[in-house]
Amino acid sequence: MVETDTTPFYITTAISYPNGRPHIGHAYEAIAADVIARFQRLRGRHVRFQTGTDEHGLKMARKAEEQGRTPADLADEMSGYFRAMCDALNISYDRFIRTSEPDHHRASQAIWQAMEASGDLYLDRYEGWYSVRDEAYYDESELVEGEGGAKLSPQGTPVEWTVEESWFFRLSKYQDQLLALLKTPGFLEPASRRNEMIAFVEQGLRDLSVSRTSFDWGVKVPGSENHVMYVWVDALTNYLTGLGYPGDMGEFWPASLHLIGKDIVRFHTIYWPAFLMSAGLPLPKKVFGHGFLLNRGQKESKSLGNVTDPLELADRFGVDALRYFLMREVAFGQDGSYSPEAIVQRANGELGNAFGNLAQRTLGFIAKNLDGYLPAIRGHDPADSALFEVVDRAITTEIPDAFESLAIQQAVEAWLQAVFACNAYIDAQAPWTLRKTDPERMETVLATLYICIAQLAVAISPVIPASSGKLLEMLGVPEDLRNLQGIRSHWYSPLAESDYQLAPPTPLFPRLELPAEAESA
Ligand code: MF3
Repeated sequence: MVETDTTPFYITTAISYPNGRPHIGHAYEAIAADVIARFQRLRGRHVRFQTGTDEHGLKMARKAEEQGRTPADLADEMSGYFRAMCDALNISYDRFIRTSEPDHHRASQAIWQAMEASGDLYLDRYEGWYSVRDEAYYDESELVEGEGGAKLSPQGTPVEWTVEESWFFRLSKYQDQLLALLKTPGFLEPASRRNEMIAFVEQGLRDLSVSRTSFDWGVKVPGSENHVMYVWVDALTNYLTGLGYPGDMGEFWPASLHLIGKDIVRFHTIYWPAFLMSAGLPLPKKVFGHGFLLNRGQKESKSLGNVTDPLELADRFGVDALRYFLMREVAFGQDGSYSPEAIVQRANGELGNAFGNLAQRTLGFIAKNLDGYLPAIRGHDPADSALFEVVDRAITTEIPDAFESLAIQQAVEAWLQAVFACNAYIDAQAPWTLRKTDPERMETVLATLYICIAQLAVAISPVIPASSGKLLEMLGVPEDLRNLQGIRSHWYSPLAESDYQLAPPTPLFPRLELPAEAESA
């Protein structure tokens, strides 16, 4: 049930390595986080939303070297593409952080000093395995055997033997606290990801190497100028930097939700809480590890030649169609698959035929037959109250409850069911027939639909913000009422009694055609 809740809500995505251009997985995470951020704003919460790029480390340094340029130059260019992707996809971030920014270096050095002051850092020598692709240290026992007997990380990436002087963090000291945290209901979701983390901690935590001396692309360790911090120490700290750490972080810490991919849950639910415990800072309330998106069931890779540019998809099908598809198709938390055919099918069937036509038919009818003047409610019929009830339950309970528990797909399904109910109502009531037989009843039917369409436009606005905004604009719904509380108020009669005149509607969801090459594929 929606109550106005004005408590702060801080949501973050993982920050991406800008060692190449963004792919569909980056778009997926940004869109999901944006949907949640927009939903919380719709509820009235004070939201802060951060995303950005993770620019340090060996992976960036090596990629730059391969290309004969500096890491800073590579990061500048690629970070620009990530930001452009967010802007193109209508991602409503409050800050796009780059870890090369000076305030981030200051924040990282400050958390380092706080961990040092707790006695949790000591100098030693690291000898062990490292995966540059994962930017992760692995224990021998975690490695798997690849083709030709090559040692690979559990993620299937190459590892290299590394020996160097390094600062260590006393991760082992936090073992019990971390176990208790991982067992706290709601901290790590989906719950299916918990067992693996619990097993990892239970098998005994080794102290973590947290600095490197063999390269210098990173944040300098205070007092040890030949060391740069392990990239994950600085990367994770981005969540604090954006709030002004080490200054006053205001109302937004601890974070409400770190939204990340399932492959980096270890960093967020073990290393990060331990760093925060050491620094004496409150822990994030929730970490959610979403699944991966597959291209027709296959992982995208350069060698398979199936890497999709998310902006190309958005250009081809429209930003809202892409957003809708990704949220609708995949159970959030699980892996999912996409294809141009599936996008076209959902967009045409659900956005175009179900919702778009409902709006088009209703508004077009009013524009044509009533000169655009809004119909009045003239009497009651059980069919009207039944529809109002269905839509009200969707927008007050089903949709918000689902969004709140991050069941985004379920939220969209609940919305779609309410849209179907409106379509069944318009077909059963047949205002085109009533126009001749009972014009008063026709007015009531159209007014009922008008109100329901506006309510459903608000409820789905986190997913398709541009289309919803356009529709609400056409409908003349005052801007301050375009939220879950406001849209339930009695705005319709005042609007109908004003001289508001509806213009003939323009189509919201142009019919998509399947690209020729996808049909033959
Ligand atoms: N760049 C990392 C990756 O792509 C994610 C870092 S998220 C962080 O795997 F914020 F925690 F650093």
